[in-house]
Amino acid sequence: MLLQPAQSEIIPSEVDTTTHISKRISIRIPLVSSPMDTVTESRMAVAIARQGGLGVLHRNLSIEDQAHQVDVVKRSEAGMVDEPITISPDATIGEADELCGLYRISGVPVVDAEMRLLGIVTNRDMRFEHDPTRLVGEVMTKMPLVTGPVGIAGDDAMRLLAQNKIEKLPLVDPQGRLKGLITLKDFVKSDKYPNASKDPQGRLRVGAAVGFFGDAWERAMALIDEGVDLLIVDTAHGHTQGVLDMIRRLKSERAASEVDIIGGNVATFAGAKALVEAGVDGVKVGVGPGSICTTRVVAGVGVPQVTAIHNASRACRPAGVPVIGDGGLQYSGDIAKALVAGADTVMLGSLLAGCDESPGDLVFINGKQFKTYRGMGSLGAMAARGRKPSYSKDRYFQSDVGTDDKLIAEGIEGQVPYRGPVEAVAYQLVGGLRQSMFYTGAGTITELQERGSFVRITSAGLRESHPHDIQMTVEAPNYSGQ
Ligand code: XMP
Repeated sequence: MLLQPAQSEIIPSEVDTTTHISKRISIRIPLVSSPMDTVTESRMAVAIARQGGLGVLHRNLSIEDQAHQVDVVKRSEAGMVDEPITISPDATIGEADELCGLYRISGVPVVDAEMRLLGIVTNRDMRFEHDPTRLVGEVMTKMPLVTGPVGIAGDDAMRLLAQNKIEKLPLVDPQGRLKGLITLKDFVKSDKYPNASKDPQGRLRVGAAVGFFGDAWERAMALIDEGVDLLIVDTAHGHTQGVLDMIRRLKSERAASEVDIIGGNVATFAGAKALVEAGVDGVKVGVGPGSICTTRVVAGVGVPQVTAIHNASRACRPAGVPVIGDGGLQYSGDIAKALVAGADTVMLGSLLAGCDESPGDLVFINGKQFKTYRGMGSLGAMAARGRKPSYSKDRYFQSDVGTDDKLIAEGIEGQVPYRGPVEAVAYQLVGGLRQSMFYTGAGTITELQERGSFVRITSAGLRESHPHDIQMTVEAPNYSGQ
């Protein structure tokens, strides 16, 4: 299928790509990174949120590890950090260094047991120290430090940082107790990433996947405690009682007022309607379209993705529930197609798995660079081998399968070409969407959904649509071949 061009009075740079991922959360670009263990951990979540999208942390790891990742994203950038990481003067600089590495921060305020500010220890204090057992109290920059009062305005904080040529401004109460921290880096990042998806406290937004089985409830509560913005009850078949019960319970208890709850995956009108009736704030659509999926072959089940999105959106739109089109996107042009079919955002796995910020190392094969990418229903992800326990089995309703050799895989393991930083990839993807909006004469995502119309093509049309009758000699940044 292709989108038909229509009369247009807008140029690509003028379109607005703002949309809703869930009822209460809007984002500036409609890109969501997939909760897969080769796609989204905290680095990816930070990177995609800075671009204006949103990352969903995968759940194939312990509750503590997943909650920690939410914390890392939340601390990565903030108007003000209200519970800064601190350290005691009796800790060693080795411990301080480890803490900085863990949270990717450059320094930590030093406090006593009553949270009174004693000093600050930064990379600069530690850089020339060769003995990691030295105590923080000995090497820190001691009080008096430049500090600000609680509630200081952003401009005043910036002035204090600039006047004193410092990078961190601890905020203290009249008794000298540490109450917050403002960092120069956060001001710089705000200027650099004007579209960043942020919560009301100025922290980057992040989502996380949970299941409905076993310790799923405990997991959901731990993620909420760390400040997650939305939870996705993420399974391969969302039109099941367990998923609907989990959503109802989340919506009826404390989460309802704090975070948005998305359910999935479904691929039919009835499936989407059931989720809407359970009270979801968003519906995730896709059974089997993913690049690594084998569900349609192994189980013979699924619905072509454009049809699935269209049918699900018929149930969601009247209820004001946004739709995420999950899986199957290969090129930037597929984003606009998903949106015209009825999605409000798209979820990406393979298109982001090759980025610097996805988990895993680069591998070189015949001089070319690749990164690992695997389905969450692949044997590798579902089997309990290796360091982490597997929570991926229950996404495919196989928690009761005792041994790995009895698992029924619904995905494959492989590798995708290295694609560079998320910033560059998102730029090309959103750039492609902007072109689509220009061609269809849509100034906003809503106009694209309303005005966009499809034309069905044949296999001859598909062949004509891709480059043909030429040998490609230079790879384009947004097209690597069919
Ligand atoms: P793309 O096409 O972006 O798709 O790589 C990513 C989406 O695929 C889903 N997913 C799977 N589906 N077996 C499946 O049937 C799997 O092993 C599997 N792993 C992920 C998921 O919805 C993801 O966002």
